[in-house]
Amino acid sequence: MSFPESFMQELKLRNDISDVVSSYVSLKRAGRNMVGLCPFHGEKTPSFTVYPESGSFFCFGCETGGDVITFIMKQENLDYAEAVRFLAQRVGLDVPEGGFDDSMSRLRMRVYEANREAARYFYSALYSPGGRAGLDYFYSRALSDRTIRHFGLGYADDNWTSLCSHLKSKDFSESELVAANLAVRRRDGNGIYDRFTSRVMFPIIDLRGNVIAFGGRILTDEKPKYLNTSDTPVFKKSANLFSLNNAKNSGTRTLILCEGYMDVIAVCQAGIPNAVATLGTALTAEQAMLMKRYSDEVILCYDSDEAGQRATSRAIPILRNAGLNVRVLTIPNGKDPDEFIRSREADGPAAFRALLEKSGNDVEYRLQKLKQNYNTDLPEGRVGYLEEASKILAAIDSPIERDIYASRLCKEFELDKGAFAKQLEKLDKSRFRENRKQENRKLQNEISGRNDKINSDHYKKPRSSSAEEALVIYLINNPDSCSEIQREIKPEQFKNSLMRRFYEYFSERIQNGLDPTTSIAGDFSSDEVSKLYQLQSRMSSVAATESSMREYIKVINEESRRLSKDEIATMSPEALSDYLKTIRMNRQ
Ligand code: UTP
Ligand code: MN
Repeated sequence: MSFPESFMQELKLRNDISDVVSSYVSLKRAGRNMVGLCPFHGEKTPSFTVYPESGSFFCFGCETGGDVITFIMKQENLDYAEAVRFLAQRVGLDVPEGGFDDSMSRLRMRVYEANREAARYFYSALYSPGGRAGLDYFYSRALSDRTIRHFGLGYADDNWTSLCSHLKSKDFSESELVAANLAVRRRDGNGIYDRFTSRVMFPIIDLRGNVIAFGGRILTDEKPKYLNTSDTPVFKKSANLFSLNNAKNSGTRTLILCEGYMDVIAVCQAGIPNAVATLGTALTAEQAMLMKRYSDEVILCYDSDEAGQRATSRAIPILRNAGLNVRVLTIPNGKDPDEFIRSREADGPAAFRALLEKSGNDVEYRLQKLKQNYNTDLPEGRVGYLEEASKILAAIDSPIERDIYASRLCKEFELDKGAFAKQLEKLDKSRFRENRKQENRKLQNEISGRNDKINSDHYKKPRSSSAEEALVIYLINNPDSCSEIQREIKPEQFKNSLMRRFYEYFSERIQNGLDPTTSIAGDFSSDEVSKLYQLQSRMSSVAATESSMREYIKVINEESRRLSKDEIATMSPEALSDYLKTIRMNRQ
């Protein structure tokens, strides 16, 4: 089931891919195409290409590709039906009702609604007589009523069914509440109970203002201290950040990354609205890319304990790889931002601002950490430190930045600049060699298809797969040749299962007079769609002529007559000799 074809064509016609992509990525013209920095992985030189003529995009760096719908699915974190609605709304097109099986979209809508109602419920519970413990807890942590309202904080009481009963009275079903992870099914299967009890509640809100999850903190020393919503149809821990909905409107291109909910809230209450936090897991590349959409610089502001410092060192390269500048704020005396601000009482906000301004960049931070491991009063300590330090500098991409730190180190240790420069140059070369080795390995794997999970048959059956891939691409680029190709090749002859599915799908659409790829994002997984556009970008020029098409048909015919080792092993001698004869004939 799908949206009507005419509607889909209209939708794609009106949503020109370069227009749509341009509102997220700054694109430059490159011949007939447009290029820009890929929004799906961190990069410094553009490998993200938009093909206006075919209405598609492909990134040569991370190999993500697709059409305008795929782009919106990924960029806005929507499913297929939601992305179609999003694009329809963008151009004022009415979405035809019915027909499309959007039970998943409907469930997501219900989960959003249940979460919103739950947030309202927790908030009013906080200010009800039964919520006194929660409210006192927030007051004891110096939160004002205004801050509590701003973040929509709340309270889940110690009754195991109060939220469930409330939401059921609002017509939510048990399975919807379980899907939202607001409730848990009882082990005996009879009914459900609240996921969060006896906790103060922190709603997590996405960039469109939907409540997508909760964090809940216990009021005592019991474990676990925080309980978070597990991943649900609307929430992926590793792809969201607490309070990004507030921070993105702060008017700066800087974000402050803290460890915890309470840190973000305390920093915000101190008048600094651009703080965010991860949700109980280490920082991911996906979160870094998300930050990159709203900022150019991230100030890491993790706890100053050992765990926090380790997390800082791990976060630096992830943020850098997303193209972000990184600064590191170090809080004195082993505190976290919330404790620091409170410990200074009325001075807290100003003292924290001063720390923010003083925060050095990541290179300074790493050099300073490194220096702590050496006694630089001794010659061997100095040698050790400078050798390790030069490795940090050699890894910096910008020559100017590298030179600034090199000069600083030379001055500090009264070093000859020429000698140090030589050391850096040596390291640079070996880094270059190491990079090239890695690239080569990657290329080898790509060519052999060894690591290709989506198109895994390619590696097992390289010859037939290559021909099948090329024929599929030829078919989409030349729909007129469909009947001729179909006369020669039956889908059963395909040995590569993904290519067989593409072949069946495209030839059926073409036969019915439809454009082959209009609805592809609804009928294949996003990885499969990326694979198709990867093949298209690689093969369109090779798979261009009629004579190359005949060559592919010939190879597919040959390969499909070839039997597998297992089949040969179980053959009768007569059948085997017949088989060998046909192979020999084909060779001539
Ligand atoms: P911390 O243990 O540093 O707590 O965890 P905190 O933020 O300082 O909290 P308070 O000040 O004691 O209330 C940092 C973050 O790690 C996640 C939460 O997101 C928390 O804010 N976390 C921590 C969990 O998800 N589960 C836990 O049990 C503990
Ligand atoms: Mn804390």
